[in-house]
Amino acid sequence: MIVLGLESSCDDTAAAVVRCDAGKSASVLSSIVVGQTDLHAAFGGVVPEIAARAHAEKLDLCIEDALAKAALTLRDIDAIAVTSGPGLIGGVLSGVMCAKGLSAATGKPLYGVNHLAGHALTPRLTDDVPYPYLMLLVSGGHCQFLLVHGPDRFERLGGTIDDAPGEAFDKVARLISLPQPGGPAIESAALQGDPNRFPFPRPLLDRPDCDMSFSGLKTAVLRVRDKVIAEKNGLSIQDQYDIAAGFQAAVVDVLAEKTRRALALYLEHDPVTRSLCVAGGVAANKAIRAGLETVAAASDATFIAPPLQLCTDNAAMIAFAAAEQSTVRGPDDLTLSARPRWPLDIRQPSMLGSGKKGAKA
Ligand code: KG4
Ligand code: ZN
Repeated sequence: MIVLGLESSCDDTAAAVVRCDAGKSASVLSSIVVGQTDLHAAFGGVVPEIAARAHAEKLDLCIEDALAKAALTLRDIDAIAVTSGPGLIGGVLSGVMCAKGLSAATGKPLYGVNHLAGHALTPRLTDDVPYPYLMLLVSGGHCQFLLVHGPDRFERLGGTIDDAPGEAFDKVARLISLPQPGGPAIESAALQGDPNRFPFPRPLLDRPDCDMSFSGLKTAVLRVRDKVIAEKNGLSIQDQYDIAAGFQAAVVDVLAEKTRRALALYLEHDPVTRSLCVAGGVAANKAIRAGLETVAAASDATFIAPPLQLCTDNAAMIAFAAAEQSTVRGPDDLTLSARPRWPLDIRQPSMLGSGKKGAKA
């Protein structure tokens, strides 16, 4: 089965071609991602209307590019997969309309895929990880622990009740005048800082569950910054480094401790497969990775982090998720709708508020 995937739920326009043959490892024949950072830079965040327009303009070019890189034409494609939510509604609509057009014109089956399912199934694309496994999804828009039972069966063990960690990294970087994206900027500043100078809080560690909160941590950084500025009439470079180090240490501690709890729940459910997987841009952070690796090792679990280009938003994960799901469900028809909110585990209460990705899943 050869699947053409499309992704346009936030600020990356992406198309990819993935080949999945029964009993064999899947292969990514091409994966094109066109970012929009420059378009939004002046606004300090993603502007939904600008994003949607850019997706509508770039999708066909990405598709052409993805087919050319795979040395295939539309005729060789067996199915068309598209992110149909959750995300910024204008962007999701651009992708869904484009995929419907392709499906109607070619007669190829259409699969609407949940963006979070795409991330959550990636360890099977990259590492053939057997079900069930524990997935920590940490990016600029998402933060949740998922017990992945099957291609269409996800159990949410917990997640952030406010900001995603990537969002917090970006906001904290802005507060202390470091560049965007904040994650890599804070990570490198933290290397030269003292993580103990400012004792930032570790929110929600007093609660026994796997839920997290990063918004209060950001406010704590704001208070410390203002105090230092008031005392010294400004922030020195060393102050920036120490705040970055203290903030990152707090995020690492929270993620590590909550992962330890989620891992215990997962291992209680299934003591055999023992796989802890991560996805999302924040998984690039070496201190966070080291913290998670230590937690996995302590429970004799294998730690799996897909390569970064498949950890961040891409369309290969959407194509692959459709192929996985085609083993348990049929295709969608042309009534497929774009869903700004779409929780993976409908038994859990939906997340409140909005973030970089629009309404929280
Ligand atoms: O997965 P991603 O590319 O897009 C979203 O779906 O959000 O993640 C981007 C987020 C940004 O917030 C960025 O600051 C964060 O991931 N990030 C990092 C690092 N690299 C990227 N956060 C912490 N440390 C990093 N090294
Ligand atoms: Zn994503």
